[in-house]
Amino acid sequence: MINIAIDGPSAAGKSTIAKLLAKQLGYVHIDTGAMYRCCAYQSLKNNIELNDLIALDEMLQHMEISFDKAGNVFINGEDVSKNIRTNEISMRTSSIAKILLVREKMVAKQREMAKAKGFILDGRDIGTVVLPDAEVKIFMVASVEARAKRRFEEYKMQGVDVDYDQIAKDIEQRDYQDMNRETSPLKKADDAIEIDTSLLNIEQVVNKVLSIIQKKEKQN
Ligand code: DC
Repeated sequence: MINIAIDGPSAAGKSTIAKLLAKQLGYVHIDTGAMYRCCAYQSLKNNIELNDLIALDEMLQHMEISFDKAGNVFINGEDVSKNIRTNEISMRTSSIAKILLVREKMVAKQREMAKAKGFILDGRDIGTVVLPDAEVKIFMVASVEARAKRRFEEYKMQGVDVDYDQIAKDIEQRDYQDMNRETSPLKKADDAIEIDTSLLNIEQVVNKVLSIIQKKEKQN
């Protein structure tokens, strides 16, 4: 077994692919974006301003994030899987993920969870910061149009009324924030393999990554 890092911008398909790969390989998937989303959700719920570092620190000390096998996310035992996926939380997450204190806590927790081999982590800084020794590093990208279209379809399927142009604008804004922040900005690791998923379906991406993983597993 090895460890696999999947990084890339919002809505490029990282979590979907990571989840399927984990199932096929019998690996454990950790959606690190969900962890930052939990921080955003909890701070909003507790009316904590993002510049109040003392209150944020206090909040983080009393917040236990966990996942179950199906990929549901829990804060102190409460299932927040759906609550953390709203557009409001997405935008707040991009802001809270800039805060060093928050990143340090999340990175420590991620390293602790992925101490052994057999983990697939997806996020923005997995190959560069969290698991720089991961045997396979994938950098997944897609055009803004492709990503906005996917998110739009997802929302539509859930019966959520959303505006395509607004989704595209929000994706661009999050890209900018994620790539231009001081702490651990979204960046391709030198040894990561880039996959553009704009014109590929889920199965094609899974197969591409699987062949990269299988090659690497043979070498180890
Ligand atoms: O992957 P996602 O859309 O659920 O991520 C939500 C936000 O969290 C996104 O704006 C970037 C941030 N994030 C991060 O800074 N570092 C990670 N490892 C994962 C996500």
